[in-house]
Amino acid sequence: MSTHFPQDFFWGAATASHQVEGGNWRNDWWQWETAHPDIIDDASRSGAACDWWQGRAEDDLAQAAALGQNAHRMSLEWSRLEPEPGQFDEAAFARYRDILSHMHTLGLTPFVTLYHFTLPQWATAMGGWTNPTLIDRLAALAEACATRLGDLVPFWITINEPMVLAFQAYAGTRWPPGMGNFGAGITALRHLLQAHAVVYRLFKRIQPEAQVGIALNVPHFVPARAAHPLDRVVTWLQDWLFNGVKLHALVRGEFAPPLAWPAQPAPDIANTFDFLGLNFYGRYDVMFDWRAPAMLFGRHVQQPTVRLEHNDWGQPDPLAFAASIKRLAAAGKPVYVTENGVLDNADDDRLRQRVLKEMLGALKRLRREGVDVRGYFFWSLVDNYEWAEGWRARFGLIGVNPYTQARFLKPSAHLYAAICRGEMDVE
Ligand code: NOJ
Repeated sequence: MSTHFPQDFFWGAATASHQVEGGNWRNDWWQWETAHPDIIDDASRSGAACDWWQGRAEDDLAQAAALGQNAHRMSLEWSRLEPEPGQFDEAAFARYRDILSHMHTLGLTPFVTLYHFTLPQWATAMGGWTNPTLIDRLAALAEACATRLGDLVPFWITINEPMVLAFQAYAGTRWPPGMGNFGAGITALRHLLQAHAVVYRLFKRIQPEAQVGIALNVPHFVPARAAHPLDRVVTWLQDWLFNGVKLHALVRGEFAPPLAWPAQPAPDIANTFDFLGLNFYGRYDVMFDWRAPAMLFGRHVQQPTVRLEHNDWGQPDPLAFAASIKRLAAAGKPVYVTENGVLDNADDDRLRQRVLKEMLGALKRLRREGVDVRGYFFWSLVDNYEWAEGWRARFGLIGVNPYTQARFLKPSAHLYAAICRGEMDVE
């Protein structure tokens, strides 16, 4: 084991309920896939996904352990646990207990996300995250989960990528409920951040020993032309809106514009994380373009070193990765990389292997500098249903054929295993 990665470093991969479980017919995404095949890139549906709910979770997790991983990040599906408002389904909790117990047996420490994008259809019918009563609804779910599953969960993640959700589903139209209204996006983000704080306190009250954090997508924005004043302005604007605003709320406990428009009572959000989770995919090179008002007049451009496949997720640049980790570490709490990965649809996944090595090299250098990063979760353990990209975008270490449920190990799975086991060093 490399000295820069201590014995207690968490090496794992991440998954999310809707993307792997299959048959989540009570949530908003199921409804969306059914009603809007035109919006899903390949018109595909999640369907049986990776069939985790019916029993394949156990096999894939056993494979993760066999590949040298010692932790796994998964999420709970609200629509299964609370299919009707106020009615919890004990059988669903029992299934999650089985999966979590299995993880412990395999030596995989669970990191569990309470809320990863999908809402029960009844919650969407209430207006989703534009409705402030969802804050208490999520708190009730958290209480039910902490009480019934808490003994198996040492690390909780309250909410996954609140800004991405607000942007895609409320400001945008690609994800349900697809409101397409900037103000709705801001309102949703405000409620998600408030819900995070309420859920944090609740977990800590019921389970004081648990470590509780949030998973934030923090890309790195740079001006496409370093000295160009307009590129610099729009880069700053995009960074502020996407990264600055939520970090300001979480770290300083204040809503800044546009979250503070219209004027808001001071939120009670400060000191609501024991760690920060970073989901990192890329660097965006931002160029001023007056034809792109929806992007705050900043178009994302590819540099000549293009890695085109990953286009929408930015350039998987290790220096940018390091910058985002440092930015979160500046809050003074441990950082876990709760997601990092790359779109690579090739079975021999050379791009994924290269990115893994480069990113882990960056991580090692950061640890050498003394940055407090304590774990790394690759996105994803298995190919899975990639939201509005459907099955077209593959992110797994383990390949999955969604029609036959056949699995195969990609070269990156072996590479990552060698790193996890300390058999291979990264530079
Ligand atoms: C972020 C999300 O948390 C996850 O659900 C998604 O599949 C990956 N990034 C890849 O886009």
